[in-house]
Amino acid sequence: MAALTTDSIVAVIGSGAMGAGIAQVAAAAGHTVKLYDARPEAVNRAIDDIAGTFGKLAAKGRMSAAEAEAARGRLQAASSLRDLADAALVIEAIVEQLDAKRALFAELEGVVADEAILATNTSSISVTALGAPLRRPERLVGMHFFNPVPLMALVEVVSGLATDRAVAQAVHDTAAAWGKSPVHARSTPGFIVNRVARPYYAEAWRLLNEGAADTATLDAVMREAGGFRMGPFELMDLIGHDVNYAVTKSVFDAYFGDPRFTPSVLQREMVDAGFLGRKSGRGFYRYGDNAVPPQP
Ligand code: NAI
Repeated sequence: MAALTTDSIVAVIGSGAMGAGIAQVAAAAGHTVKLYDARPEAVNRAIDDIAGTFGKLAAKGRMSAAEAEAARGRLQAASSLRDLADAALVIEAIVEQLDAKRALFAELEGVVADEAILATNTSSISVTALGAPLRRPERLVGMHFFNPVPLMALVEVVSGLATDRAVAQAVHDTAAAWGKSPVHARSTPGFIVNRVARPYYAEAWRLLNEGAADTATLDAVMREAGGFRMGPFELMDLIGHDVNYAVTKSVFDAYFGDPRFTPSVLQREMVDAGFLGRKSGRGFYRYGDNAVPPQP
């Protein structure tokens, strides 16, 4: 099984931060991309945003105006899962919940062709567990991009126990053809990056709870002294607190409640309050008209 050729159609399900980024990258690489979301307005917003980005890239000379126009033309809004029947690769980027993802893949099995690859962008849910109820779990693989997708090179290609090696290799090679730096990983809780990153967030929460310093100071210290691109709080605001909380909980549960991965009660409070970070306009910082920059 080889990397996808550009005449293959890519479907992206979930048009939030990640789905929109994946669609942008796949369309820029030459694929027709069908975007679907349970909320049609999310698809329209994603396509408008991507078109705006292509326009800006053309204005900066990073792609020609003709390329920008062509890439925009390859994006299609799908109004139902049935519209995805001709996709060679379906990438799921919906809410981080096992049951929701399982229900989606069960439905997809009845829609797509036998040779289509099913991929999940899950941050932390076991690919083995996601695939178990499927008729053909061997064609399900993790294709875990990082946020923001157009800028982040890494893609974790995650194999569950039943994943066919050839399927994982085809997804690996496709990610490479899209200009990414893919790595193979087995499906362990949190995979590679989210596993290593859990203590980073957990210690940041502890420091905040203990009153060591405020978020802006802690972020600035990690950026300036720690050499991180972003501090932990601004990074959590970028990821989304709903997503980050779900990932922590999933890793905590997968390790039978190992206290190292205990989720933060305060983070749950932020999720309950709807303070989800950039996507809701408010997290640790405010975004939009009343922006409070994360500087001490
Ligand atoms: P988001 O909240 O920005 O977008 C999720 C989208 O999925 C929403 O537009 C929602 O309407 C749609 N959706 C929810 N349930 C659906 C369903 N059953 N069918 C169709 N559409 C549905 O979330 P985000 O951040 O894009 O995350 C999506 C996935 O990507 C999650 O699994 C997350 O863990 C993973 N991920 C997130 C990263 C991040 O930094 N935010 C990084 C890497 C992976």
